[in-house]
Amino acid sequence: MQAWSAHARELLGGSPSPRLRELAEALGPGARVLEVGCGGGRNTRYLSGAGLEVVALDVASEPLLLLGACCERVRATADFHLPFASSSFDGALDSYAFTFIAERRLYAMELRRVLKPGGLLLLEFDAEPHVLDHEELEAAAREAFGGLFEFLYVKRIYHAWGCLYDESREEIPALAALLTPLK
Ligand SMILES: C[S@@+](CC[C@H](N)C(=O)[O-])C[C@H]1O[C@@H](n2cnc3c(N)ncnc32)[C@H](O)[C@@H]1O
Repeated sequence: MQAWSAHARELLGGSPSPRLRELAEALGPGARVLEVGCGGGRNTRYLSGAGLEVVALDVASEPLLLLGACCERVRATADFHLPFASSSFDGALDSYAFTFIAERRLYAMELRRVLKPGGLLLLEFDAEPHVLDHEELEAAAREAFGGLFEFLYVKRIYHAWGCLYDESREEIPALAALLTPLK
């Protein structure tokens, strides 16, 4: 737990994903957004500050405690059925939680279930350990989400070693994709 605390505190000070502004604008103030694997909450606080209603989910309790009362907080694993009603979110964000998800197809099915038609999912992930290149990361995303979601864009990004919010250093290949549920 001590290690998590240090990690979460580091992420608390991290800058949000550069793709969040676009997501927040597309969804609009008041939109209900599920953030899976919120961690230290760098993205949660951005979305909440932009006037979106954020539900932050994490498998670990420590980050949820650190997050405070800026949003609804749910402790649960995303490797099982998500504890939410169908079609209950306008948007979803997964920034580097997918990296750790084992049941990826079930996860994609669950995200599709909880999103409203026309909803948006911003997915960002790398591989743990960092052994996959961009092509392999994209294949992993298409294997999980293919047939369930339309890929609106796929961006090949990088982040620095040990610092996933520093995208200025081309060290670790990662992927960012914007998806919408298929009918
Ligand atoms: C690398 S951190 C990213 C944190 C945050 N999204 C960010 O971008 O700063 C990954 C987060 O996913 C959470 N996580 C890992 N596996 C998970 C699972 N199966 N269900 C829910 N959360 C999970 C971890 O506890 C951690 O908070």
